[in-house]
Amino acid sequence: MRPLIPIALALLALPGLAAQDAAHTVMPVPRSITVASGGLRLDSTFTVAIRGHRDARLERAVNRAITRLEARTAQPMSHVIGSDNATLVLDVRSAGHAVPDLDEDESYRLGVTPARATIEAATVVGAMRGLETLLQLQAADKSGNYLQAATIADAPRFRWRGVLIDASRHFMPVDVIKRTLDGMSVVKLNVLHWHLSEDQGFRVESTAFPKLHELGSDGSYYTQQQIRDVVAYAADRGIRVVPEFDMPGHTTAWFVGHPELASAPGPYSIERRWGVFRPTMDPTRETTYAFLERFIAEMVTLFPDRSWHIGGDEVEPTQWKTSPTIQQWMTQNNVADVHALQTHFNRRLFAILERHGKQPVGWDEILQADLPAGAVIQSWRGMNGLTEAVKQGRHALLSAPWYLDHIKTSREMYLADVLPPGLTPAQQALVLGGEACMWAEYVTAETVESRLWPRLAAVAERFWSPAEVRDVPDMYRRLVVVSRRIEEVGPRHESHTPAMVRRIAGGQDAERLEQFLAYARPRGFGGRGTTQLSPLTRLADAAWPDPWTDWRMRDRAERAVAGDTAAARLLREDFTRMAGFRQILLEMEPRVPLARDGILLATASGRLAGVGTEALQYRIRGTLPTAAWRLRADSVIAATDGKTFGLLRPVGVEAVKVLLAR
Ligand code: ACM
Repeated sequence: MRPLIPIALALLALPGLAAQDAAHTVMPVPRSITVASGGLRLDSTFTVAIRGHRDARLERAVNRAITRLEARTAQPMSHVIGSDNATLVLDVRSAGHAVPDLDEDESYRLGVTPARATIEAATVVGAMRGLETLLQLQAADKSGNYLQAATIADAPRFRWRGVLIDASRHFMPVDVIKRTLDGMSVVKLNVLHWHLSEDQGFRVESTAFPKLHELGSDGSYYTQQQIRDVVAYAADRGIRVVPEFDMPGHTTAWFVGHPELASAPGPYSIERRWGVFRPTMDPTRETTYAFLERFIAEMVTLFPDRSWHIGGDEVEPTQWKTSPTIQQWMTQNNVADVHALQTHFNRRLFAILERHGKQPVGWDEILQADLPAGAVIQSWRGMNGLTEAVKQGRHALLSAPWYLDHIKTSREMYLADVLPPGLTPAQQALVLGGEACMWAEYVTAETVESRLWPRLAAVAERFWSPAEVRDVPDMYRRLVVVSRRIEEVGPRHESHTPAMVRRIAGGQDAERLEQFLAYARPRGFGGRGTTQLSPLTRLADAAWPDPWTDWRMRDRAERAVAGDTAAARLLREDFTRMAGFRQILLEMEPRVPLARDGILLATASGRLAGVGTEALQYRIRGTLPTAAWRLRADSVIAATDGKTFGLLRPVGVEAVKVLLAR
């Protein structure tokens, strides 16, 4: 362990001014950005003009931007959009695709000088991306608000930058979906993958087969009018909506009303547990395809996107293997095994989709021998699905590193890349992009936004920005700002913790519990023993997935080791707070039963903080710890790092590891 660098040297090592000069808070980082000093003052004289192509969608986007600037500056601004000179001039060449499209040109150029701002774009969607960047250039000084002077040329690295919302395990009302779309537009995500059917719920109104939603949803489903409304709302923000009706597995909820689709006799009921279950569509009966033909013919009227997600994951083969009629059919038709049977099903399904002009997307399990060409493979079980797909000349999407329900940090998800090493340029070109997945076993409408944001903004940067943009401290510096800008448009990810904690405890107890949760993380996927019927309202549900304290402590530790005494002092305060939580929770527990969930973690955090405080002292004094102390410190790290304490996990482990590094 090195001692701290003396103060005089530390002062010389202060952050370089050149780096400070270039600082901006734009996320995702544009392809090219030069920030200049000065800026364009923002006040009630601000006006907007549109040159070139102009339409109602663009005008709505401009009006939303003006409204946000008005709110930030508390100054009224004109909503009359001119056609020539103005403070902000948009120059747009064309409408772009009528329905948001994979091949949309999203590029734009943005210039801000002290005199004016200009956005040039080939399409309306490109102009909208530019408007979001413009809004991120807003800053303030003692003279008031301004747009930071900058020259930007921007375009996405990947065409498909999505997020999956599972509205089936737990229903996500339209308001949540719309707020998510608003947040997505801030960070330039362009695909909502809407997971609409599952063992635990069928979530779309069907007039062709009303028993699907009537018996399969507990009354929580989207009406067709709501679906159209969401699709239009997304299109207004340049976002595609790709529906997923997962089949042939994950289909129990369909069978409550339509047991004839299943591979074994019913009756069926909505599944309440989490996992992979046996009910599976029967791929050997013509009636299955007649049903799907009619069902899809109805659903394509709601979802105009060219892509159509068929699911295809985790088919549990027991029903297929134990059905005499299915086994007999397989023998008669030379279908060798259950994988070949799923491919037979997919072949029939793809033919239906093709008749409706749809291109199938499926989870990587569908990539079996003889899968027809044309399907996009979404790789979730690792990188192999993606690599194998592009080697076969198929298009692919990557999701494996971005399972938001696994509660990894922004840092971990940010450092993963869409492209695995070793692909040829032609293979790389087949990778359309990535999708983060928000599976809903352990989130509800109340907690989902806090599991989406702000981590999804870091993922959005991975999908949009050049691959070389990988500076983690800089990402977190900007993420704090963009997180709050995302709350400005609707999502409630930062405010959800205080709100939930106030239900768990009132008065002073709420404040102290919130402080405790600033030093705690929820456990990742699984291990809770809950079902669809369990309330998700414990401390772990209120906790932020990647609280700011974790990277701040790590950052402080790195600065402290480099000789920054202010950082060392702040880090000691973190440790002191962590050391006090056990006593606070024990004292609170008789009044606040749910506080009990935190005691195991508070005990472990206290031990970690003790080691951290001592390690910091060794650094400051410049003395080396004894071998016995070192052993004890290592054992505390081993007992904390990656460990779960009930439903919670520790914060600050990385910081202590930095202090202990030799
Ligand atoms: C999946 O997570 N089963 C696609």
